[in-house]
Amino acid sequence: MQISFTKTTNPKIMPPVEKLGFGSIFSDHMFVMDYTDDKQWHNFRIVPYGNIELNPAASVLHYANEVFEGMKAYRWADGSIHLFRPYENAKRINISAERIDLPQIPENIFVEAVRELVKVDKNWVPSGAGTSLYIRPFLFSTDPELALHGIHQATFIIIMSPSASYFAEGIKPVKIMLETQDVRAVRGGTGYTKCGGNYAASNRAGDRALEKGYSQVLWLDGVERKYVEEVGAMNVMFKINGTVVTPALTGSILGGITRKSCLELLKSWNIPAEERLLSVDELISAAQNGKLDEAFGTGTAAVISPIGELAYNDQKYTVNDFKIGPVAQKLYDELTGIQWGTRPDPFNWTECI
Ligand code: PLP
Ligand code: COI
Repeated sequence: MQISFTKTTNPKIMPPVEKLGFGSIFSDHMFVMDYTDDKQWHNFRIVPYGNIELNPAASVLHYANEVFEGMKAYRWADGSIHLFRPYENAKRINISAERIDLPQIPENIFVEAVRELVKVDKNWVPSGAGTSLYIRPFLFSTDPELALHGIHQATFIIIMSPSASYFAEGIKPVKIMLETQDVRAVRGGTGYTKCGGNYAASNRAGDRALEKGYSQVLWLDGVERKYVEEVGAMNVMFKINGTVVTPALTGSILGGITRKSCLELLKSWNIPAEERLLSVDELISAAQNGKLDEAFGTGTAAVISPIGELAYNDQKYTVNDFKIGPVAQKLYDELTGIQWGTRPDPFNWTECI
């Protein structure tokens, strides 16, 4: 794969760690490639980060044909840079793309593009504790036509953002509100994909939660509003009576790579873990009866995020005295230890750039 390179003439300086936050500062370059039915993927290029031009009729602007990924590059103590399970992201963007009719991206092209861009902007991988370079690959349709029809042209871009913790709280517990009005996804819809529309449909509830002092909402299933699904930007796990329970991937939940990695770690430690339907009634009665030992979210941006309070129908339930619990802490230590190279990587999850 031949990637052309146009170096920025206006390099920026990465701000200090305490100014990084999440997802608002971008590295100097971006990767771009185009798709048309006749040429397939072509014009692979790394160019200075900057605005893009779109025809106002581009179908993504009208019909939201867009999917994206979230992954990170980590700087180890010896200065080397590593990706975490990049082929999982490559697989998942194609699962998402297939659902909304966007073209498939060969996995090796996806991973190679990420690697080459990270190499070009390697100085943008921060080295402070808990920091990483967040990588955002995304794919959208550009057909300049308002008629509803198949997608025949598309663009794939990767941008990167040096980031610290996603939540202002860091690894401190967050407050989460169960959402009882809006729904995020239904089976047969797009809930299992990372398409932009899912997040558009989630915004209103997220904003309402923020106004009430909650970080994000916990979604219930879209049909019966009976089962717990996932949080705005993370999957969710509950330790109930000694067993870790996480909602099963029934079609309306994103198959998180962090979720999958946590389940693999729990299995390797012989900590009982179940993927199954979890009703809100079971969750709330566990909270009321002192059987909800821990609750936490899992995600690339969120890493492991302990949940210290759940609100449901205006009742508040404190979890584990608003402290991080032992399973969440163990998962956090192991996962981040593997990602930052301070612990062995028995599953070969990390890939050196
Ligand atoms: N669920 C949603 C809706 C998300 O946006 C994310 C973040 O990517 C996750 C779950 C966690 O997925 P992953 O662990 O692959 O980042
Ligand atoms: C990620 O964790 O990579 C995400 O995509 C979360 C994002 C919606 C903020």
